[in-house]
Amino acid sequence: MTNICVVGTGYVGLVTGTCLAEMGHTVWCVDINEDKINRLNRGETPIYEAGLDELLHRNQGVKRLFFSNQLSVGLAQAEVVFLAINTPSSESGDADLSYLSAAVDTIVTHCDTHLGALRFLVIKSTVPVGTGAKIQQRLLPYGISVISNPEFLREGQAVQDALYPNRIVVGVNHVDAEKMMRRLYHGYVCRGVPLVVTTVPTSELIKYAANSFLATKISFINEIAMLCEAVGADVLDVAHAIGLDQRIGPHFLSPGPGFGGSCFPKDIQALQYTAKEKGVDLHILQAVNQVNRRQREWVIRKVTSVVPTPCTIAVLGLAFKAGTDDMRDAPALTILPALLKLGYSIRAYDPVAMEMAKGFLGHDITYCEGVTATLIGSDVALILTEWDEFVTYSMADIKQHLTQPMVIDCRNILNRQLASDLGLTIIGIGRGI
Ligand code: UDX
Repeated sequence: MTNICVVGTGYVGLVTGTCLAEMGHTVWCVDINEDKINRLNRGETPIYEAGLDELLHRNQGVKRLFFSNQLSVGLAQAEVVFLAINTPSSESGDADLSYLSAAVDTIVTHCDTHLGALRFLVIKSTVPVGTGAKIQQRLLPYGISVISNPEFLREGQAVQDALYPNRIVVGVNHVDAEKMMRRLYHGYVCRGVPLVVTTVPTSELIKYAANSFLATKISFINEIAMLCEAVGADVLDVAHAIGLDQRIGPHFLSPGPGFGGSCFPKDIQALQYTAKEKGVDLHILQAVNQVNRRQREWVIRKVTSVVPTPCTIAVLGLAFKAGTDDMRDAPALTILPALLKLGYSIRAYDPVAMEMAKGFLGHDITYCEGVTATLIGSDVALILTEWDEFVTYSMADIKQHLTQPMVIDCRNILNRQLASDLGLTIIGIGRGI
């Protein structure tokens, strides 16, 4: 058992801290946001993550998990401090490390007076290659070893990904750091989870390379989807057939309105920035971003090609994907304002992102409390995320509630044959047949 402090209680920090407690460690999660900490201490979960509530309450109950907005409290007994602080994109596209640096400053100040048991600082945040080395320089005088331990958590499935990771990556620059991380993740290694031990810069680059490759797969299949429509092919069959090749794999080959979220767009930009600084051109990632931007325009064109203004469109799904309330870089943030500007009226619903969406999309949109309420009063429907409740909703009811029996299904989640038998037209992505 290790005494751990986790700085940052966003979806990465809170899930990481809770799952470290679940593994039997004693964890203090700290955050400068007092309101968030107060809510956590009242047993409330400030973010939507499936399975997190139960883990939080269980570990708080057995006194393995604690929350404070005082870093000194969190560090008091800690041997290891994890930094899970957001590193958003700056204007230039480089990662904004100001929040991370502020946390390191606070840790250094704390160590000046209370070094205590602290020996390791683990960077869980996604940071440009070379960041760990810079922080190591600052912490050398305190005998604190800096470790890179990137997260691979998908929003909405973060607890699952944290408890059952495909692999754990650690970047170390000292054998004691490696020993500590092996001890920390011993439970996973015993379960057969591969533990990749490498250098700090290599570990930092692994994170960016992983996200960039996943984003590349998505832009690739989105381009193939566009070609499928031009040649009369079915992208779902193409994706299925190529995914059967173990060298390609079936995942991340679902065409859609383009990737969003707090990671892919940011991480690609940051990697491009790092490469440019080093005089290396990443042509593929340039194209990945261009295709991703064009995908949103393609959806808008799909709507304008079949739906005359001034029709009312029922938009189902506002967050960047199903299973989350996160609106960061959501396709809806580009598509809906464009449709409003073109003269359409919008009725919209998302199972968990409604409050977030109102803050981003404003009040020119009619926000509805459910699928049926969104469809009634609308002419056609536009599906932007793949929530199960959209998949299972009765297509007969969709046809009944819309004035025009048509759905533009940007996630290819509806069965077109069944819809056709009901007299409902489904326009998908890449379904050229
Ligand atoms: C991603 C990585 O998966 C995760 O490992 C990393 O730690 C953080 O970034 P996340 O951004 O939460 O996780 O979402 P993810 O499920 O990866 O989807 C990213 C975007 O790609 C979403 O907009 C999603 O809708 C889109 N996507 C995903 C597709 O369009 N098609 C796919 O086949 C898969």
